[in-house]
Order: sequence, then structure tokens, then C-alpha cells
Amino acid sequence: MHHFHFRNHELHCEEVLIRDIVRQVGTPLYVYSEATLTRHFQAFDSGFADVPHLTCFAVKACSNIAVLNLFAGMGGGADIVSGGELFRALTAGIPANRIIYSGVGKTAAELREALRAGILMINIESPQELDRVQQVAAELGVVAPVAFRVNPDVDPKTHAYISTGLAKNKFGIPVTEAFADYLRARSMPNISIQGVSCHIGSQLTQIAPFLEALRKLKDFMARLASEGITLRYLDLGGGVGITYADEQPPHPHEYAKAIMAELGDTGCTLILEPGRVIVGNAAILVTEVQYTKVNTGGEKPKRFVVADAAMNDLTRPSLYGAYHEIVPVSATNAAPQMVDIVGPICETGDFMARDRMLPPVRQGDLLAIMSCGAYGFSMSSNYNSRPRAAEVLVRGDRFQVIRGRESYADLIRGEVIPEGVQP
Ligand code: LLP
Repeated sequence: MHHFHFRNHELHCEEVLIRDIVRQVGTPLYVYSEATLTRHFQAFDSGFADVPHLTCFAVKACSNIAVLNLFAGMGGGADIVSGGELFRALTAGIPANRIIYSGVGKTAAELREALRAGILMINIESPQELDRVQQVAAELGVVAPVAFRVNPDVDPKTHAYISTGLAKNKFGIPVTEAFADYLRARSMPNISIQGVSCHIGSQLTQIAPFLEALRKLKDFMARLASEGITLRYLDLGGGVGITYADEQPPHPHEYAKAIMAELGDTGCTLILEPGRVIVGNAAILVTEVQYTKVNTGGEKPKRFVVADAAMNDLTRPSLYGAYHEIVPVSATNAAPQMVDIVGPICETGDFMARDRMLPPVRQGDLLAIMSCGAYGFSMSSNYNSRPRAAEVLVRGDRFQVIRGRESYADLIRGEVIPEGVQP
């Protein structure tokens, strides 16, 4: 469910014509619907209303501070994976005591920033990281609240690049080995054990792998309890999928119900780290057709629609072969043709869709690439020296630019031609 819809054959976001936004802001352009963001956050969060819990939005999915600020206002926290994300979350008004920090490669400087800020919990992913956290906390004269991210070796049945909870993946500490780390952590003066965490993957469309991971975590917690180690937080990560094409992921309430039924009474506050399920369907990427062309000479003629958005604006199709629905902003009944929708970047891998049925389009037509709210702008780059797209947030019948389009000056910010280098 989202708030992008056709009225009089023209695509709207909430009450605003997409065409009107483009007239003012140009393309390529990310358009977010505030009503969709709010609705999805509440739909997810309210599913867990019966248990003590904290919904920590995964900042990596969509890191614009306007979006983070919206979730902060609804009681949300943040799941961060870098010093940069800590900076964004704090700037957006997310209180430090609602921020948790995951990731396999936290630097000493990043840990220092997190401890100085006073975040809720650091999810430690290796024995060496535990030593580093102890050392940094001792230097600062603070006690670090920690959880260990355990790797439950569960198959999430999703794309290989976004599976994280298999033994062969780089994430977490094998659940079979983490016990020793808890015992070691218990004797460290600047470490306070707070919880356990896991995250098994992204875009999961089934509930069973989540429950399998939860069962393993519960067994593990029972083992810890027998050693006298009791936990305050149980962090189940993110991963609930969305519909891009014909996937049928569980409704967030169905997911919550299944988790709570399996959970029983652990006495822990539950932490969730949803990303995609909240923002995925809450934004579109709007792009303008620059050229259409037909390349002949192969087995059959190949039609291309060359748009002004590219793999630097939306990486998912190139990187994961991901499917995003693409529709003309002005609806038509004309018979569709099979086309590749590509960008201007000098790589054959630069496509938004391949062999896709699309109504005939002409130069200057606008296309909407749907479901780009998660891992869309946040994964964009300046490849081919392309300024990054603008971002707009729609609220009812109004909209606001929440990130201006980058300029050429932005492209070379920080770059220097060394003095004394002969031309
Ligand atoms: N927590 C942790 C520790 C994570 O690593 C992730 C995502 C999440 C939470 C949020 O997962 P979500 O609820 O969004 O599934 N770029 C890829 C997805 C990468 C996911 C990485 N980790 C894509 O575009 O599909």
C-alpha cells in the first residue's frame, strides 16, 4: 500500500502531480510520500505494541535526515553501521539512547564517537572488536553497553549478496562460539553486557527463517542464563521483504504475531531493525526519456529507451538484477513494446530494466521507477561525474526539496591539483 496513484491518467504522489514537481525540480528525481512513510512505520511498530520494544530504522536503507526526523518523531530509533550514519541520526534528532550500532568493521574512531554520544548498544561482531571496544571505553573512562551479533547459520532464502546469517557470510560470531565471548566480556571492566542480536538477510518473503533464527537465539539465551548472564535486549535485525513484482511477503503484523508467539516471555525488550519494509514502497525515481533507438543487426531489432537516470542513481537492477516496475507518468492505453530502459553511463550493465514491456514513449516523456525508497538514493554515487539526484518529500498537497540536486562544484569538493606539477 502506498500513495502513488493515477488520477486523470496522470501519476500523483498524494495530492501532488509528479509532473508539477518535475517542472520545478527537474530529473532525475526521488519523490517520497510522507503519508506512506508514516503509515509503514506505524504498521510495523504497532505490530509489536503488546511487548516492550524499540523500532530502530536501518539508516542504510534511506538516510536522508528529513526521513529520519520523521521516524524520530514517531518514537523510532536508528540502526547505524558507520560514523557517518551516527552523525546523520543524531542530526536528524534521533536520541542517542535509541541508537544501536552494527557492522563488522567499526574503527576505533567510530567507536569513540558512538561511546561519546552515549548510544544504546554496540552490536559486536568479532572477538577482536570486543577487545577494541574495551580499550576505547577504558580510554574514555566509560562503560560500553554491548550486545554480540551472533550468526545463527540460517538460510534466509534471498539473493546471495544480501544473505547475512549463513555461516559462510562475514557477519556476526557463530552462535556456537559466542558463549566464550560473553564469558570474556563479563570480566572486562569497561563492558556492560546488554543483549544479543542477529540479522539474517534482507528482502525475506517467508517467516520461517526468522523463527528458526529466533529459536536458536532463545536456546543460546537459556545457556547464558544458566551461567547467570541475563540480557535486557533481544535484537532480531531487519529483513522483512516488500512487493516489487509478484512477491508475497508477510504483512508486518503477521510477522510480528509470529515473532511474538515464538518469543514467549524472555523478559527482554525486543529491538527490530527494519529498513526496506518501511521505506521501500514510499518513493519513486522519476526520469526523463532522452532518446529512443532501435539497434538492428542482431537476431532481432533491439529497442532502447535512454533515460536520464542511471546505475549511479539506482544501483539495484545492475547490482542484484533487481526488478523495479517502470511506468510512464502519463498513462496510455497504447500497446506495449519490449524495450531495455537504460541510462547514459558507459557500461552495458547500466540498465533499469531489460526486456521490459513498456507503452511507446518519446523524447521528453517522464517515467516513474517504482519502489525506490529503500537502497535507492542511499546507494547512489557520482560515477561518470554525474551530480546526484534531488530528493523531494510530499506531504498532502505540498512538497519540499529535502536534498538539492548536486552541482558540478559539489563533484570536485575536496579535490586539489597539486602545486608544482608541470603541465
Ligand atoms: N540490520 C542490519 C544489521 C542490516 O545489515 C540490514 C540490512 C538491516 C538491518 C535492514 O534490512 P532490511 O529490513 O532493509 O531488509 N542493498 C540491498 C540490501 C542490503 C541490506 C543490508 N543490510 C538491496 O538493495 O537489496
